[in-house]
Amino acid sequence: MNKLCIIIGILLMTGFQALAIESPSLSLGKTLFESVELGTKERGCVTCHPHGRGLDMVGDFNDTELKDIINACLRDALGAQLISSESQEMNALVSYVRKFQK
Ligand code: HEC
Repeated sequence: MNKLCIIIGILLMTGFQALAIESPSLSLGKTLFESVELGTKERGCVTCHPHGRGLDMVGDFNDTELKDIINACLRDALGAQLISSESQEMNALVSYVRKFQK
């Protein structure tokens, strides 16, 4: 099992604890968005997009486009592996960033 799987496993477990408060997808998305352990660069989405900075235009993209952008940020900005566009993790990130849509 690679490192990413282990990290996502841990994130999933912590996500479940928040189930009662928020929808599962949003809480997983928030956990992933704030994690600095997805990639090798010791930073997270939140490092460059605190309080959704730079994300107000997400409404201009459909889900497929958004997933490509998120994967580009994962690969280039975080040094992380790509996430499958069908995965629960990717769908959670998409739902979460849509919260910042203006
Ligand atoms: C090193 C800084 C950095 C990190 C870390 C980063 N991004 Fe980005 N992100 C950017 C930049 C730069 C853009 C392009 C913004 C622009 O076009 O004005 C961008 C664009 C985006 C967009 C498109 C938003 C828009 O309105 O154009 C989304 C969605 C996004 N990032 C999500 C994420 C997610 C999710 C993560 C974590 C997996 C992440 N980003 C991590 C720098 C970063």
